[in-house]
Amino acid sequence: MRVLLIGSGAREHALAYSLKSDVQVTELHAAPGNPGIGDIAALHEINQNDPQAVSALAIKIGADLVVIGPEAPLVAGVADAVRSVGIPCFGPSRAAAQIEGSKSFAKEIMASAGVPTAQSFTCNTQEEMERALDSFGAPYVVKNDGLAAGKGVVVTHDRAAALAHGIECGTVVIEEYLDGPEISLFGISDGVTVIGMEPAQDFKRVFDNDEGANTGGMGAYSPLPWAPAEIIKETEERVLLPTIRELAKRDMPFVGLLYAGLAMTARGLRVIEFNARFGDPETEVLLPRLQTPLAQLLFAAATGNLKAQPPLTWSKESAVTVVLASAGYPQDPQVGREISGISEIDKTRIFHGGTTVSGGRLLSSGGRVLAVTGLGSNLANARARSYEAISKVSLAGGHYRKDIALKASMSEKGA
Ligand code: AMP
Ligand code: GLY
Repeated sequence: MRVLLIGSGAREHALAYSLKSDVQVTELHAAPGNPGIGDIAALHEINQNDPQAVSALAIKIGADLVVIGPEAPLVAGVADAVRSVGIPCFGPSRAAAQIEGSKSFAKEIMASAGVPTAQSFTCNTQEEMERALDSFGAPYVVKNDGLAAGKGVVVTHDRAAALAHGIECGTVVIEEYLDGPEISLFGISDGVTVIGMEPAQDFKRVFDNDEGANTGGMGAYSPLPWAPAEIIKETEERVLLPTIRELAKRDMPFVGLLYAGLAMTARGLRVIEFNARFGDPETEVLLPRLQTPLAQLLFAAATGNLKAQPPLTWSKESAVTVVLASAGYPQDPQVGREISGISEIDKTRIFHGGTTVSGGRLLSSGGRVLAVTGLGSNLANARARSYEAISKVSLAGGHYRKDIALKASMSEKGA
Protein backbone atom coordinates (compact mmCIF):
# COMPACT_ATOMS: atom_id res chain seq x y z
CA MET A 1 0.00 0.00 0.00
CA ARG A 2 1.28 3.47 -0.92
CA VAL A 3 0.32 6.03 1.69
CA LEU A 4 0.44 9.83 1.50
CA LEU A 5 0.36 11.64 4.84
CA ILE A 6 -0.53 15.33 4.99
CA GLY A 7 0.87 17.58 7.75
CA SER A 8 4.09 18.55 9.45
CA GLY A 9 3.77 18.32 13.23
CA ALA A 10 4.69 15.87 15.97
CA ARG A 11 1.29 14.25 15.52
CA GLU A 12 2.15 13.52 11.89
CA HIS A 13 5.56 12.18 12.91
CA ALA A 14 3.79 9.76 15.26
CA LEU A 15 1.35 8.83 12.48
CA ALA A 16 4.25 8.36 10.04
CA TYR A 17 6.08 6.11 12.47
CA SER A 18 3.08 3.82 12.97
CA LEU A 19 2.11 3.81 9.27
CA LYS A 20 5.67 2.90 8.35
CA SER A 21 5.60 0.03 10.89
CA ASP A 22 2.58 -1.56 9.16
CA VAL A 23 3.90 -4.44 7.01
CA GLN A 24 1.39 -3.60 4.29
CA VAL A 25 2.94 -0.20 3.66
CA THR A 26 5.37 -0.38 0.75
CA GLU A 27 5.89 3.37 0.30
CA LEU A 28 5.30 6.23 2.68
CA HIS A 29 5.11 9.80 1.37
CA ALA A 30 4.48 12.97 3.35
CA ALA A 31 3.66 16.55 2.44
CA PRO A 32 5.09 18.82 3.60
CA GLY A 33 6.45 16.70 6.49
CA ASN A 34 9.37 17.71 8.70
CA PRO A 35 12.97 16.53 9.26
CA GLY A 36 11.88 13.71 11.58
CA ILE A 37 9.28 12.45 9.11
CA GLY A 38 11.88 12.84 6.33
CA ASP A 39 13.94 10.08 7.96
CA ILE A 40 11.17 7.55 7.25
CA ALA A 41 9.15 8.97 4.33
CA ALA A 42 9.65 10.71 0.98
CA LEU A 43 8.83 14.40 1.45
CA HIS A 44 6.99 16.59 -1.06
CA GLU A 45 6.96 20.36 -0.80
CA ILE A 46 3.41 21.42 -1.49
CA ASN A 47 0.82 23.65 0.17
CA GLN A 48 -1.06 21.20 2.40
CA ASN A 49 -4.17 23.40 2.31
CA ASP A 50 -4.48 23.38 -1.48
CA PRO A 51 -7.02 20.69 -2.45
CA GLN A 52 -5.82 20.48 -6.08
CA ALA A 53 -2.15 20.29 -5.12
CA VAL A 54 -2.81 17.42 -2.69
CA SER A 55 -5.03 15.42 -5.05
CA ALA A 56 -2.54 15.91 -7.90
CA LEU A 57 0.30 14.66 -5.71
CA ALA A 58 -1.78 11.66 -4.60
CA ILE A 59 -2.37 10.74 -8.27
CA LYS A 60 1.27 11.30 -9.20
CA ILE A 61 2.64 8.93 -6.56
CA GLY A 62 -0.15 6.39 -7.10
CA ALA A 63 -1.40 6.66 -3.51
CA ASP A 64 -3.75 3.94 -2.27
CA LEU A 65 -4.58 5.94 0.84
CA VAL A 66 -4.28 9.59 1.89
CA VAL A 67 -4.21 10.37 5.62
CA ILE A 68 -4.82 13.99 6.62
CA GLY A 69 -3.36 15.06 9.98
CA PRO A 70 -4.27 18.70 10.72
CA GLU A 71 -7.61 20.51 10.70
CA ALA A 72 -6.74 23.30 8.25
CA PRO A 73 -6.63 21.07 5.12
CA LEU A 74 -9.86 19.36 6.21
CA VAL A 75 -11.68 22.65 6.58
CA ALA A 76 -10.22 23.71 3.21
CA GLY A 77 -11.80 20.67 1.50
CA VAL A 78 -8.66 18.63 0.83
CA ALA A 79 -10.39 15.33 1.68
CA ASP A 80 -13.20 16.12 -0.77
CA ALA A 81 -10.66 16.73 -3.55
CA VAL A 82 -8.82 13.47 -2.85
CA ARG A 83 -12.04 11.44 -2.83
CA SER A 84 -13.24 13.11 -6.01
CA VAL A 85 -10.27 11.60 -7.88
CA GLY A 86 -11.19 8.16 -6.53
CA ILE A 87 -8.49 7.76 -3.88
CA PRO A 88 -9.53 6.57 -0.39
CA CYS A 89 -8.94 9.28 2.21
CA PHE A 90 -8.82 9.16 5.99
CA GLY A 91 -10.14 12.58 6.97
CA PRO A 92 -13.62 14.11 6.87
CA SER A 93 -15.09 16.25 4.12
CA ARG A 94 -15.20 20.00 4.48
CA ALA A 95 -18.86 19.71 5.51
CA ALA A 96 -18.26 17.10 8.23
CA ALA A 97 -15.15 18.91 9.51
CA GLN A 98 -17.43 21.75 10.61
CA ILE A 99 -17.86 19.67 13.77
CA GLU A 100 -14.48 21.20 14.69
CA GLY A 101 -14.55 24.33 12.54
CA SER A 102 -17.79 25.72 13.96
CA LYS A 103 -18.69 25.50 17.64
CA SER A 104 -22.32 26.38 16.90
CA PHE A 105 -22.57 23.60 14.30
CA ALA A 106 -21.16 21.13 16.84
CA LYS A 107 -23.72 22.27 19.39
CA GLU A 108 -26.54 21.86 16.89
CA ILE A 109 -25.44 18.32 16.01
CA MET A 110 -25.18 17.37 19.67
CA ALA A 111 -28.62 18.77 20.42
CA SER A 112 -30.19 16.80 17.55
CA ALA A 113 -28.31 13.63 18.45
CA GLY A 114 -28.98 13.85 22.19
CA VAL A 115 -25.28 13.94 23.05
CA PRO A 116 -24.57 15.22 26.58
CA THR A 117 -22.80 18.60 26.55
CA ALA A 118 -22.84 21.95 28.32
CA GLN A 119 -25.98 24.04 27.85
CA SER A 120 -25.19 26.95 25.59
CA PHE A 121 -26.34 29.96 23.59
CA THR A 122 -24.94 31.16 20.27
CA CYS A 123 -24.72 34.97 20.47
CA ASN A 124 -24.09 37.71 17.91
CA THR A 125 -24.95 40.93 19.76
CA GLN A 126 -23.74 42.44 23.03
CA GLU A 127 -27.26 42.21 24.42
CA GLU A 128 -27.46 38.47 23.68
CA MET A 129 -24.02 37.95 25.19
CA GLU A 130 -24.87 39.77 28.40
CA ARG A 131 -28.10 37.82 28.75
CA ALA A 132 -26.26 34.51 28.28
CA LEU A 133 -23.46 35.43 30.71
CA ASP A 134 -25.96 36.37 33.38
CA SER A 135 -28.09 33.32 32.92
CA PHE A 136 -25.11 30.97 33.62
CA GLY A 137 -23.16 33.14 36.09
CA ALA A 138 -19.43 32.78 36.84
CA PRO A 139 -17.14 31.14 35.88
CA TYR A 140 -17.95 32.33 32.36
CA VAL A 141 -17.12 30.26 29.27
CA VAL A 142 -17.00 32.18 25.97
CA LYS A 143 -15.95 30.44 22.74
CA ASN A 144 -15.08 31.95 19.39
CA ASP A 145 -17.36 30.30 16.83
CA GLY A 146 -14.63 29.68 14.23
CA LEU A 147 -11.32 27.78 14.15
CA ALA A 148 -8.94 29.45 16.58
CA ALA A 149 -6.09 26.93 17.00
CA GLY A 150 -6.82 26.45 20.69
CA LYS A 151 -6.96 30.17 21.42
CA GLY A 152 -10.63 30.88 20.99
CA VAL A 153 -11.88 29.99 24.45
CA VAL A 154 -11.93 32.26 27.49
CA VAL A 155 -12.84 30.81 30.89
CA THR A 156 -12.92 33.52 33.53
CA HIS A 157 -14.62 34.88 36.64
CA ASP A 158 -14.27 38.38 35.18
CA ARG A 159 -17.56 39.30 33.49
CA ALA A 160 -16.05 42.32 31.70
CA ALA A 161 -13.25 40.17 30.23
CA ALA A 162 -15.77 37.53 29.15
CA LEU A 163 -17.89 40.16 27.42
CA ALA A 164 -14.87 41.82 25.80
CA HIS A 165 -13.82 38.46 24.28
CA GLY A 166 -17.35 37.98 22.97
CA ILE A 167 -17.44 41.40 21.33
CA GLU A 168 -13.98 40.92 19.83
CA CYS A 169 -14.98 37.58 18.26
CA GLY A 170 -18.37 38.69 16.91
CA THR A 171 -20.14 35.33 16.98
CA VAL A 172 -19.59 33.29 20.14
CA VAL A 173 -20.96 30.30 21.97
CA ILE A 174 -21.49 31.07 25.65
CA GLU A 175 -22.00 28.05 27.82
CA GLU A 176 -22.36 26.52 31.23
CA TYR A 177 -19.09 25.85 33.09
CA LEU A 178 -18.24 22.14 33.34
CA ASP A 179 -16.38 20.99 36.41
CA GLY A 180 -14.28 17.81 36.54
CA PRO A 181 -11.24 16.20 34.94
CA GLU A 182 -10.95 16.31 31.16
CA ILE A 183 -10.07 13.39 28.92
CA SER A 184 -9.62 12.95 25.19
CA LEU A 185 -11.25 9.94 23.57
CA PHE A 186 -10.91 9.34 19.84
CA GLY A 187 -13.24 7.44 17.54
CA ILE A 188 -12.12 6.02 14.21
CA SER A 189 -15.06 6.24 11.84
CA ASP A 190 -15.94 5.05 8.34
CA GLY A 191 -19.11 7.15 8.34
CA VAL A 192 -21.31 4.37 9.77
CA THR A 193 -19.26 2.36 12.26
CA VAL A 194 -17.06 3.98 14.89
CA ILE A 195 -14.36 2.38 17.05
CA GLY A 196 -13.29 4.11 20.28
CA MET A 197 -9.61 4.24 21.11
CA GLU A 198 -8.24 4.21 24.65
CA PRO A 199 -8.54 7.55 26.40
CA ALA A 200 -5.63 9.93 26.96
CA GLN A 201 -5.23 13.12 28.93
CA ASP A 202 -3.39 16.19 27.74
CA PHE A 203 -2.04 19.22 29.59
CA LYS A 204 -3.16 22.46 27.99
CA ARG A 205 -1.55 25.10 30.21
CA VAL A 206 2.01 26.16 29.58
CA PHE A 207 3.37 25.86 33.15
CA ASP A 208 3.38 23.29 35.96
CA ASN A 209 0.25 23.00 38.13
CA ASP A 210 -1.87 24.09 35.15
CA GLU A 211 -0.69 27.67 35.39
CA GLY A 212 -0.12 30.17 32.60
CA ALA A 213 -1.61 30.50 29.15
CA ASN A 214 -3.54 27.90 27.18
CA THR A 215 -1.42 26.12 24.56
CA GLY A 216 -1.90 23.49 21.89
CA GLY A 217 -0.83 20.90 24.52
CA MET A 218 2.34 20.51 26.60
CA GLY A 219 2.22 16.77 27.24
CA ALA A 220 -0.04 13.74 27.52
CA TYR A 221 -0.29 10.24 28.92
CA SER A 222 -2.21 7.02 28.41
CA PRO A 223 -3.75 4.86 29.80
CA LEU A 224 -5.63 6.69 32.56
CA PRO A 225 -5.47 4.57 35.72
CA TRP A 226 -8.27 6.61 37.28
CA ALA A 227 -10.79 6.49 34.41
CA PRO A 228 -13.99 4.43 34.77
CA ALA A 229 -13.65 0.93 33.27
CA GLU A 230 -16.58 1.44 30.89
CA ILE A 231 -15.46 4.80 29.54
CA ILE A 232 -14.74 3.63 25.99
CA LYS A 233 -18.04 1.81 25.62
CA GLU A 234 -20.00 4.63 27.22
CA THR A 235 -18.39 7.23 24.96
CA GLU A 236 -19.04 5.09 21.88
CA GLU A 237 -22.69 4.66 22.77
CA ARG A 238 -23.54 8.10 24.10
CA VAL A 239 -21.23 10.36 22.11
CA LEU A 240 -19.41 8.93 19.09
CA LEU A 241 -22.10 6.77 17.48
CA PRO A 242 -24.99 9.25 17.85
CA THR A 243 -22.80 12.00 16.38
CA ILE A 244 -21.69 9.87 13.44
CA ARG A 245 -25.32 8.88 12.77
CA GLU A 246 -26.52 12.47 12.91
CA LEU A 247 -23.85 13.57 10.42
CA ALA A 248 -24.71 10.66 8.11
CA LYS A 249 -28.38 11.61 8.31
CA ARG A 250 -27.44 15.09 7.10
CA ASP A 251 -25.53 13.67 4.14
CA MET A 252 -22.16 14.58 5.55
CA PRO A 253 -20.75 11.20 6.60
CA PHE A 254 -17.76 11.55 8.92
CA VAL A 255 -14.87 9.45 7.62
CA GLY A 256 -11.85 10.04 9.79
CA LEU A 257 -10.99 10.67 13.41
CA LEU A 258 -13.68 12.09 15.66
CA TYR A 259 -11.98 13.56 18.73
CA ALA A 260 -14.22 13.91 21.77
CA GLY A 261 -12.91 16.22 24.50
CA LEU A 262 -14.89 15.12 27.56
CA ALA A 263 -15.40 16.54 31.04
CA MET A 264 -16.04 13.90 33.69
CA THR A 265 -18.49 15.91 35.79
CA ALA A 266 -20.28 14.85 38.95
CA ARG A 267 -23.41 14.46 36.79
CA GLY A 268 -21.69 12.23 34.22
CA LEU A 269 -19.69 12.79 31.07
CA ARG A 270 -20.21 15.89 28.94
CA VAL A 271 -18.65 16.82 25.61
CA ILE A 272 -16.51 19.95 25.87
CA GLU A 273 -15.48 19.97 22.23
CA PHE A 274 -15.13 17.91 19.10
CA ASN A 275 -12.18 17.93 16.78
CA ALA A 276 -12.13 16.36 13.33
CA ARG A 277 -8.59 14.94 13.54
CA PHE A 278 -6.13 13.21 15.84
CA GLY A 279 -5.18 15.25 18.91
CA ASP A 280 -1.71 16.58 19.46
CA PRO A 281 0.03 15.53 21.74
CA GLU A 282 -2.39 12.69 22.60
CA THR A 283 -1.48 10.88 19.37
CA GLU A 284 2.13 10.72 20.52
CA VAL A 285 1.10 8.50 23.44
CA LEU A 286 -1.74 6.56 21.80
CA LEU A 287 -0.08 5.37 18.61
CA PRO A 288 3.05 3.97 20.28
CA ARG A 289 0.67 1.81 22.35
CA LEU A 290 -1.58 0.71 19.48
CA GLN A 291 -0.69 -2.75 18.18
CA THR A 292 -3.32 -2.93 15.44
CA PRO A 293 -1.57 -2.14 12.13
CA LEU A 294 -2.42 1.52 11.53
CA ALA A 295 -2.43 1.74 7.73
CA GLN A 296 -4.80 -1.23 7.43
CA LEU A 297 -7.07 0.29 10.08
CA LEU A 298 -7.22 3.72 8.45
CA PHE A 299 -7.68 2.11 5.01
CA ALA A 300 -10.65 0.12 6.36
CA ALA A 301 -12.14 3.38 7.67
CA ALA A 302 -11.50 5.21 4.40
CA THR A 303 -13.20 2.46 2.39
CA GLY A 304 -16.25 1.87 4.62
CA ASN A 305 -15.07 -1.47 5.98
CA LEU A 306 -14.74 -0.91 9.73
CA LYS A 307 -17.58 -3.30 10.53
CA ALA A 308 -15.29 -6.23 9.73
CA GLN A 309 -12.44 -4.77 11.78
CA PRO A 310 -11.42 -6.89 14.80
CA PRO A 311 -11.21 -5.04 18.16
CA LEU A 312 -8.18 -2.80 18.54
CA THR A 313 -5.27 -4.28 20.44
CA TRP A 314 -3.19 -2.22 22.84
CA SER A 315 0.16 -2.68 24.45
CA LYS A 316 0.00 -3.08 28.23
CA GLU A 317 2.71 -0.47 28.46
CA SER A 318 2.04 3.08 29.57
CA ALA A 319 3.16 6.09 27.57
CA VAL A 320 4.00 9.64 28.60
CA THR A 321 4.94 12.42 26.21
CA VAL A 322 6.54 15.72 27.20
CA VAL A 323 6.61 18.64 24.79
CA LEU A 324 9.72 20.79 24.46
CA ALA A 325 8.54 24.31 23.59
CA SER A 326 10.42 27.33 22.26
CA ALA A 327 11.31 30.31 24.45
CA GLY A 328 8.31 32.62 24.54
CA TYR A 329 5.76 29.95 23.57
CA PRO A 330 2.80 30.35 23.33
CA GLN A 331 2.68 34.17 23.09
CA ASP A 332 5.85 34.86 21.12
CA PRO A 333 7.85 31.74 20.21
CA GLN A 334 11.50 32.37 19.32
CA VAL A 335 12.51 30.17 16.41
CA GLY A 336 15.66 29.46 14.41
CA ARG A 337 17.62 28.19 17.43
CA GLU A 338 19.84 25.13 17.26
CA ILE A 339 18.60 21.84 18.75
CA SER A 340 21.22 19.36 19.87
CA GLY A 341 21.50 16.26 22.01
CA ILE A 342 18.59 14.39 20.43
CA SER A 343 19.18 10.71 20.89
CA GLU A 344 16.46 8.18 21.27
CA ILE A 345 17.26 5.98 24.18
CA ASP A 346 15.68 2.57 24.60
CA LYS A 347 11.86 2.79 24.96
CA THR A 348 11.63 6.40 23.92
CA ARG A 349 10.59 8.08 20.71
CA ILE A 350 11.32 11.63 19.72
CA PHE A 351 8.68 13.17 17.49
CA HIS A 352 9.55 16.35 15.60
CA GLY A 353 7.04 19.19 15.71
CA GLY A 354 8.58 22.56 14.87
CA THR A 355 11.97 21.69 13.43
CA THR A 356 13.82 22.45 10.21
CA VAL A 357 17.25 21.68 8.81
CA SER A 358 19.41 24.59 7.68
CA GLY A 359 23.07 24.40 6.71
CA GLY A 360 23.25 20.89 8.11
CA ARG A 361 22.00 22.01 11.53
CA LEU A 362 18.68 21.14 13.15
CA LEU A 363 16.84 24.35 14.13
CA SER A 364 13.59 25.13 15.88
CA SER A 365 10.88 26.44 13.56
CA GLY A 366 7.73 26.54 15.68
CA GLY A 367 6.31 26.90 19.16
CA ARG A 368 6.19 23.22 19.99
CA VAL A 369 9.53 21.79 18.89
CA LEU A 370 9.64 18.14 19.96
CA ALA A 371 7.38 15.65 21.73
CA VAL A 372 9.40 13.10 23.66
CA THR A 373 7.50 9.90 24.41
CA GLY A 374 8.64 7.36 26.97
CA LEU A 375 7.16 3.88 27.32
CA GLY A 376 7.26 1.80 30.48
CA SER A 377 5.54 -0.88 32.53
CA ASN A 378 3.62 1.89 34.32
CA LEU A 379 3.29 5.67 34.12
CA ALA A 380 6.09 6.24 36.60
CA ASN A 381 8.55 4.33 34.43
CA ALA A 382 7.28 5.92 31.24
CA ARG A 383 7.69 9.38 32.81
CA ALA A 384 11.20 8.60 33.95
CA ARG A 385 12.19 7.59 30.41
CA SER A 386 10.63 10.62 28.79
CA TYR A 387 12.21 13.05 31.24
CA GLU A 388 15.60 11.37 30.97
CA ALA A 389 15.56 11.76 27.18
CA ILE A 390 14.28 15.34 27.16
CA SER A 391 16.83 16.43 29.74
CA LYS A 392 19.58 15.58 27.23
CA VAL A 393 18.20 17.86 24.53
CA SER A 394 19.51 21.39 24.41
CA LEU A 395 17.64 24.32 22.92
CA ALA A 396 18.38 27.86 24.15
CA GLY A 397 15.38 29.12 26.14
CA GLY A 398 13.47 25.89 25.54
CA HIS A 399 11.04 24.90 28.27
CA TYR A 400 8.86 21.96 29.24
CA ARG A 401 6.53 21.04 32.07
CA LYS A 402 7.94 18.89 34.85
CA ASP A 403 4.62 17.51 36.06
CA ILE A 404 3.20 15.64 33.06
CA ALA A 405 1.35 12.54 34.36
CA LEU A 406 2.78 13.11 37.84
CA LYS A 407 -0.51 13.01 39.71
CA ALA A 408 -1.79 10.02 37.72
CA SER A 409 1.46 8.11 38.30
CA MET A 410 1.01 8.56 42.04
CA SER A 411 -2.49 7.10 41.88
CA GLU A 412 -1.32 3.92 40.12
CA LYS A 413 -1.58 0.57 41.81
CA GLY A 414 1.55 -0.11 43.78
CA ALA A 415 2.73 3.52 43.61
P1 AMP B 1 -11.98 24.05 23.61
O1 AMP B 1 -11.27 24.90 22.58
O2 AMP B 1 -13.45 23.98 23.43
O3 AMP B 1 -11.30 22.74 23.77
O4 AMP B 1 -11.70 24.70 25.02
C1 AMP B 1 -10.39 24.84 25.53
C2 AMP B 1 -10.40 24.59 27.01
O5 AMP B 1 -11.28 25.48 27.68
C3 AMP B 1 -10.91 23.20 27.35
O6 AMP B 1 -9.95 22.22 27.27
C4 AMP B 1 -11.36 23.42 28.78
O7 AMP B 1 -10.27 23.34 29.67
C5 AMP B 1 -11.89 24.81 28.76
N1 AMP B 1 -13.35 24.76 28.58
C6 AMP B 1 -14.03 24.78 27.42
N2 AMP B 1 -15.36 24.67 27.62
C7 AMP B 1 -15.53 24.61 28.96
C8 AMP B 1 -16.69 24.50 29.81
N3 AMP B 1 -17.93 24.49 29.33
N4 AMP B 1 -16.48 24.44 31.12
C9 AMP B 1 -15.22 24.47 31.63
N5 AMP B 1 -14.10 24.57 30.90
C10 AMP B 1 -14.25 24.65 29.58
N1 GLY C 1 -4.58 18.23 22.40
C1 GLY C 1 -5.55 19.16 21.99
C2 GLY C 1 -5.84 19.15 20.55
O1 GLY C 1 -5.27 18.41 19.79
O2 GLY C 1 -6.68 19.93 20.15
